[in-house]
Amino acid sequence: MNFHIMTLFPELIDGVAKTSILGRAIQKDLISVNAVDIRTYTDNKHGRVDDYTYGGGAGMLMQAQPIYDCHQAIVEAIRDKEGAVAPFNAVSDSYNEGRRIRTVYMTPQAPVFTQEKARELADEEDIIFLCGHYEGVDERVLEEIVTDYISIGDYVLTGGELPALVCVDAIARLVPGVLGNGESYETESFDDGLLEYPQYSRPEIWRGREVPPVLLSGHHANVEKWRHEQSLIRTKERRPDLYEAYMKAHEDDERAKKRRKNNT
Ligand code: ADE
Repeated sequence: MNFHIMTLFPELIDGVAKTSILGRAIQKDLISVNAVDIRTYTDNKHGRVDDYTYGGGAGMLMQAQPIYDCHQAIVEAIRDKEGAVAPFNAVSDSYNEGRRIRTVYMTPQAPVFTQEKARELADEEDIIFLCGHYEGVDERVLEEIVTDYISIGDYVLTGGELPALVCVDAIARLVPGVLGNGESYETESFDDGLLEYPQYSRPEIWRGREVPPVLLSGHHANVEKWRHEQSLIRTKERRPDLYEAYMKAHEDDERAKKRRKNNT
């Protein structure tokens, strides 16, 4: 899977991408992270990529031209790689003909990123991210190229690079082979709509705190039951919104489980 990140600060992306699990996945050729410097596409001879906002107001806006040309170059490179012959027409709607390459604009003015969205995007072969800066981006180029708008939370950051890296990390770890242990996809937070249960490693007693005895019992079914109960408790405490949604969807299952418990 290939991530193409349009940015004014490619070094920020490269610094993160080459480390840890992402770095290893790149070396293993499971993913690529291609930071593309928008500034190299500007027509302005002084290398400018921003200008004042029509209608007044503080701050500068990223201009349409360098972003559009940068995007066009990325799309062309992807299509060349795929061996597609369809010409890329910058003016007409033929830009969007055929398969549209998912192009994500990172902005706080968008639905918040979720594990479900990560799963959806993990099915793509190529994803393009656009990282904004200054006061934002000329709306016209967004209308032209963007397929998805994503926020990482209800707060405002100085640019879209960190949000894009958050998405890349969450998507990349879903690509088969990126995580060492296949099992770790299955049981973690959000996959079934609940937060993950607490976990323990050696020693059995640390600063007087004991590992819950059921985890030492070797009784697999009891361990699973305990973990599910702990997931429910934790989700109810920390994310009542998720708990409500889970209970609504699993009302019957949970009621049956409670009945079974009361009968034993
Ligand atoms: N750019 C600035 N703040 C952001 C946020 N919260 N999410 C995504 N992109 C952003």
